[in-house]
Amino acid sequence: MWQVEEIKKSLKTKIFGRQIHCFEEVGSTQDIAHTLASSGAIEGTLVIADVQTEGKGRFLRSWASPKGGLWFSLILTPTLISLNQLSGLPILVALSIAKGIKDKTNIQPLIKWPNDLYFNKKKLAGILIESATIEVAVKYIILGVGINVNIDSTHLPFGATSLMNEVGKEVSMIELLAKILEKIEKDYLKFKKTQTLLPFLKEINELSLVSGKEVKVKLPNKSIQGYAISIDEHGGLIVKLDDGQSQIITSGEVKILS
Ligand code: BTN
Repeated sequence: MWQVEEIKKSLKTKIFGRQIHCFEEVGSTQDIAHTLASSGAIEGTLVIADVQTEGKGRFLRSWASPKGGLWFSLILTPTLISLNQLSGLPILVALSIAKGIKDKTNIQPLIKWPNDLYFNKKKLAGILIESATIEVAVKYIILGVGINVNIDSTHLPFGATSLMNEVGKEVSMIELLAKILEKIEKDYLKFKKTQTLLPFLKEINELSLVSGKEVKVKLPNKSIQGYAISIDEHGGLIVKLDDGQSQIITSGEVKILS
């Protein structure tokens, strides 16, 4: 089971992991983090579990969370950020995690807009960002990260893979956690200060799986089809529609057609 002191020893962060809550089994680390955040937990509080019995994904989907995965939630309290400015955060965190994975395993995951990580066309990791707001101001954010690390793909949903399966051997979970927290913290603190993705855009677009592809995007009330050009400084996906017009998509689910 995860141990607070062991994690603390391996961390190179300033804020992330100042408070750590470890569990052998929970419903969802997101729910625990929400409870802690609403009773005033400090920024960087980490909630981590070996197993989640009710892991949550985006679009109210469930997230398979057996033993061998990195399942954690971080509490962020970016007082200066409004809901609008938050739009760049998911893809930024995806970039930070992609860099952390590359550092520790030497494989380079790609970012599937807005915040999934893929390798060999299979999903390796997902990010869930939930927030509590007062009017348009963000009170706190719960950043949920799920990475399939040492799990055999037969125990994962169709279309998913794990680092162990791709690398061919087990990966140190504690070293990976420490590296990923270090990368997310560094990028997040810069983003919090400048409130723009501009300094990260080159890297994001280089690792983007969808840029330059024909895509179908499922929006809340319709679907659109077109050519994904790139990701903009607010984290939006610029799509050139078949009639030649460009549209910036701020949320939705992308299917790559070619
Ligand atoms: C997605 O791709 O749909 C997002 C998946 C996010 C999963 C993580 S695992 C840790 C945290 N707790 C949860 O219940 N979900 C997130």
